[in-house]
Amino acid sequence: MSDRAPATLLDGRALAARIEATLADEVRTFTAMFQRPPRLVVVLVGDMAASASYVKSKAAAAARVGIDAEVVRVPAATDTQALVALVQSIARDEQGPADGILVQLPLPAHVDTVAVLDAVPPDRDVDGFHPENAGLLSQGRARFIPCTAAGVQRVLLVAGIVTAGRHAVIIGRSDIVGKPLALLLSAKGPGGDATVTICHSRSADMPAITRQADILVAAVGRPGLVTADMVKPGAAVIDVGINRIAASDGTSRLVGDVDFDAVREIAGWITPVPGGVGPLTVAMLLANTALAAELRSRGG
Ligand code: GUN
Repeated sequence: MSDRAPATLLDGRALAARIEATLADEVRTFTAMFQRPPRLVVVLVGDMAASASYVKSKAAAAARVGIDAEVVRVPAATDTQALVALVQSIARDEQGPADGILVQLPLPAHVDTVAVLDAVPPDRDVDGFHPENAGLLSQGRARFIPCTAAGVQRVLLVAGIVTAGRHAVIIGRSDIVGKPLALLLSAKGPGGDATVTICHSRSADMPAITRQADILVAAVGRPGLVTADMVKPGAAVIDVGINRIAASDGTSRLVGDVDFDAVREIAGWITPVPGGVGPLTVAMLLANTALAAELRSRGG
């Protein structure tokens, strides 16, 4: 136990509510100008409880800011070809203008995820997963930034946590979070200019690396991954993990990748789970959808 004050809690819900309020104004202006709201189409394959719950949160948040969100549900047995055809038909705007198209992940094991994601036209790819958007981000001219990575950078910026010249260590090398976040934090400019290290399952002596982190991001999906001895005193600890833990009494609760109670005694800032990065991911999706609608309305 240290004699430091416990970490400052970074309240993702409060920040997301502020972002939503700004977006609601933008969406009102768009809707008045174009006589229709921005529209997001979400494809949900199968009935995984976690995915269904995330999609519900996304649709509810869209409704709060005035974005029209449609969820297209298809059975888990749907094959790759049918999913590609579905995404292509959504992109033809047959059921209404689809400014943003999102395929909720993970897809069932029999589906070629890359083929389905590549079918989303890059100018509607509000997840930022298309290779064109990944390439633009890597070149420092981002269009749609993957929502969780954007949310992590936003929370650092808003909390006034300095990134320039600091060492950011990201645990997890996914295309969805780890890789785009490494690009964002190392890019030139506000919220960037950090020295970035990515740790992963083959990293040797990970605690020795994480203990050097001024900013430590855990994005793996393993409860208890980050323990107090892995954290430098005063560091900003950002927990991207969302893990559902079953209790012996039949209930369950959400936890992140960070041993929250122990790490909050060491860290300078920490995001809770739930109520940290999760709501920001959703807010960033809404921002990307508003941007997609605006880019389209300007014809490019
Ligand atoms: N599943 C978990 N995170 C994400 C995300 O950011 N986008 C999509 N489409 N699926 C996810």
